[in-house]
Amino acid sequence: MEQAQTKRIVLGITGGIAAYKAAELARLLLKQGIQVQAAMTEAATHFITPATIQALTGQPVLIDQWQDDKGMAHIHSSRAADAIVIAPATADFIAKLAHGLADDLLSTLCLARDCPLLVAPAMNRQMWSNAATRRNVQRLVADGVIVLGPASGAQACGEEGMGRMLEAEQLAQDIAAAFQPKLLAGQKLLITAGPTYEAIDAVRGITNRSSGKMGYAIAQAAVEMGAAVTLISGPTALPKPHDAQSVDVTSAAEMLEAVKQRIPDADMFISVAAVADYRPAQPSEQKIKKDATTLVLELHPNPDILAYVASLPKPPFCVGFAAESENLREHATAKRKKKNIPLLAANLAQQAIGSDDNELVLFDDAGEHLLPRADKLTLARALLRHAAALYKKGSR
Ligand code: C5P
Repeated sequence: MEQAQTKRIVLGITGGIAAYKAAELARLLLKQGIQVQAAMTEAATHFITPATIQALTGQPVLIDQWQDDKGMAHIHSSRAADAIVIAPATADFIAKLAHGLADDLLSTLCLARDCPLLVAPAMNRQMWSNAATRRNVQRLVADGVIVLGPASGAQACGEEGMGRMLEAEQLAQDIAAAFQPKLLAGQKLLITAGPTYEAIDAVRGITNRSSGKMGYAIAQAAVEMGAAVTLISGPTALPKPHDAQSVDVTSAAEMLEAVKQRIPDADMFISVAAVADYRPAQPSEQKIKKDATTLVLELHPNPDILAYVASLPKPPFCVGFAAESENLREHATAKRKKKNIPLLAANLAQQAIGSDDNELVLFDDAGEHLLPRADKLTLARALLRHAAALYKKGSR
């Protein structure tokens, strides 16, 4: 997540059992290249030791407002930060934030900040649903504080319900997302993802090994960058990205119909789907019996959805994908020309399909640009930064 590399976060830890997850969160943020200055309330030190957090962050932990040698920790620490993240945020600390109280170092730091504040609530379900907490959380949202979670699930007290802090992985991702520049604010993106499934009979079909991960990562990255996203997806096992509109389809014909309906409204079309090139000419409604010694399937070519969109009289900005097994540059360049699109992202199918990370080469009028190996969300963000810049420049 290269754009987050120089970011600095104050990680505020308050006194709840979820404080143990803050250690993992600190580690994941550092791994993303984010500098972490931890600050703990006195109560938090009863749940996790400052020594643990100091060892992970490499920085002394701010705790006591009376023991700061420079005397102004609440000012200089918040000024140096790009964001303050409170994880976990107890009901008590949320109440303090909502009312602007500043009776310890961490709450004073929050009040003195001039950067975004993110809070990850963690508390018993009854405390979370209490009218006072509801009011306080609403107050924070109205004040522009970003509230991450909580999730529902098993609680340390043995009860079950809303109030669990989000897992560190999820928080690290949400924090990086908050740092994304809003390069696509106000833009409408239509994205296709996943494989298509072309029925042979009632139970069998032709499909491919596309997992949908790249397309879903692009949808998520586009949402983070402020776009209004519609994701048209073939069958995948992936959870739908938050805040994107999802449309599920099965076959290439259905995908084309879904695209046709929505394309007049789109500013950008990103075609990530691995659309099956052929479909059975006459799919059988019933399961075909295995009586014959040979079975011949007649296949008809599927429509090329991207080529259709790119050839519209007023096409949106089109981005295509190409998964090749060899001669990447040659095939990708030819494909970009044939489909008449401004930007094409190419990868080697053997490395890309189903895996969590990948390497992309972007082809546009200016030549080729390598996006080095990284997880698919990082690649998606880099691809969209490139696409947004071309789109802004008015490339066709
Ligand atoms: O399959 P091919 O290599 O031609 O795919 C290149 C691009 O065209 C991809 O972006 C893919 O989503 C799109 N495509 C399509 N409809 C097809 C085949 C490919 O939209 N029938």
